Amino acid sequence: MKEKTPRAEEVRERLGRRPVVLIGLMGAGKTKTGMMLAQALDLPFADSDTEIERAAGMKVAEIFERFGEEHFRAGERRVIARLIGEGAGIVSTGGGAVMTPATADLIWTQAVSVWVRAEMPVMLERVMRSDRRPLLKNGDPEEILSALAAKRYPVYGKADIVVESHNGPAEAVLNQTIDKLHDFLAGRHGSGRHD
Ligand code: S3P
Repeated sequence: MKEKTPRAEEVRERLGRRPVVLIGLMGAGKTKTGMMLAQALDLPFADSDTEIERAAGMKVAEIFERFGEEHFRAGERRVIARLIGEGAGIVSTGGGAVMTPATADLIWTQAVSVWVRAEMPVMLERVMRSDRRPLLKNGDPEEILSALAAKRYPVYGKADIVVESHNGPAEAVLNQTIDKLHDFLAGRHGSGRHD
């Protein structure tokens, strides 16, 4: 196990039992950042899509195809409620999770929320590497992602902190996340926190 840095140590202590939940559009880098953060803070990591797939015994794309988005969102809410209920840990969520008001409510009230944000070309390049995302299958991915950004960014903007996930070294994104968490937990934050 890697030694925690003093800053990571402080973040870990100040979080107490509160989980950290990562939100943001598909391809923004939530899972990667979440896994690295979990390792740096020595906390368990979970990805809501992976947990939904495990519970349902099928892939997200198949759940959408067979049962529809509404069914998926209900399962997503249950899984996120369970993960948040487990206390200290890092949870990466699917891009649409906070668009379900009951799920968003849990995240805003019971977790420290981190919006992982990336530029459109970066997200596009990442999502084009796989075909596992049902919402991108029926049209031009750039148009779909742009429309989702327009609708979702005002909601993502309620997160406690925002992290810029560029294509540079992943370590830099991790350090930025730890620094911003550190400041937020110390009460030094100027973000547009929801009421
Ligand atoms: C979705 C994002 C996906 C997955 C599902 C729906 C969305 O997760 O939950 O395909 O509504 O944006 P990622 O954000 O991890 O790709």
